[in-house]
Amino acid sequence: MVSNLAAAELLAWRREQLQAGGEASALDWLLDLEGGLSWQTLQQLWLHPERSVELAAPLSRLEQLWQQHLQSKTPLQYLVGRCPWRDLELAVQPGALIPRQETELLVDLAEALVELPERGTPLRWADLGTGSGCLALALARAWPESEGWAVDQSADALALAKRNLGGDPLGQAVQLRQGSWWEPLGDCLGSLNLVVSNPPYIPTDVWRALDPQVRDHEPELALHGGSDGLDAIRAIAHGAAAALAPGGWLLLEHHHDQSEAAVALLRQNGLSNAAAHFDLEGVKRFACAQRPS
Ligand SMILES: C[S@@+](CC[C@H](N)C(=O)[O-])C[C@H]1O[C@@H](n2cnc3c(N)ncnc32)[C@H](O)[C@@H]1O
Repeated sequence: MVSNLAAAELLAWRREQLQAGGEASALDWLLDLEGGLSWQTLQQLWLHPERSVELAAPLSRLEQLWQQHLQSKTPLQYLVGRCPWRDLELAVQPGALIPRQETELLVDLAEALVELPERGTPLRWADLGTGSGCLALALARAWPESEGWAVDQSADALALAKRNLGGDPLGQAVQLRQGSWWEPLGDCLGSLNLVVSNPPYIPTDVWRALDPQVRDHEPELALHGGSDGLDAIRAIAHGAAAALAPGGWLLLEHHHDQSEAAVALLRQNGLSNAAAHFDLEGVKRFACAQRPS
């Protein structure tokens, strides 16, 4: 539905909504994603309040979502049901983590690390803890000839991943497996050229103190990594050498203070060339290592 209104009216509405609380950036995100009003166009309206503006949804709908967000602390992404991530627009719903911006970098790191196998041999990769399927979809699109597996313990997450992967012809080829980390990948263990994972890594104390918008709405299974946050990373590191092909890479995301521990776990489990990688803020948030050739 398209709704037409004066820019001055929209700007007054925006001021009024923000008086009730919330972050301007979040309201502008809602205007963009649900209202179809880009941030750039919004800036133009400040300069030209005499203009009229077209929205993809009526203000009453946007107001209802905003109020629901303020009152229940439900993330806007869950209310809107969509979330931009890299060059994708993914479906999101409660029961699966909302994909985060820092995780986008895992795809670039994977592309930089992996050497394609010889011609005629497909690259084989897996995404452990696929959630919405964001990483799996990005990898399937990066390597159209590859064979990919997306694993999750959560049936809700896998249902969402199936929806996101199924909406893309390259994503449709990815195989979905339910179970714990390496366990559902029995038939391809030892042959994986690349494994990526953004596992749950938040230590218990930190998880308990998280913003209620995250802690009370996003799944604990996706966030909570045990007392020191490293339970999942330990399990993944433990099975990696047997799961990767010789020369295959494991690439993990972790908490901002886990770099040393994550790199040490990769080394202790027989992997070589273990290294830390930085996020865009200069924090070591990723660890990678390789099965010796
Ligand atoms: C931090 S979320 C990451 C989701 C998605 N890959 C992303 O980056 O947005 C971690 C995911 O691991 C899954 N998970 C937790 N424990 C697991 C286990 N033992 N085996 C497989 N998946 C697990 C959760 O259900 C969740 O989807």
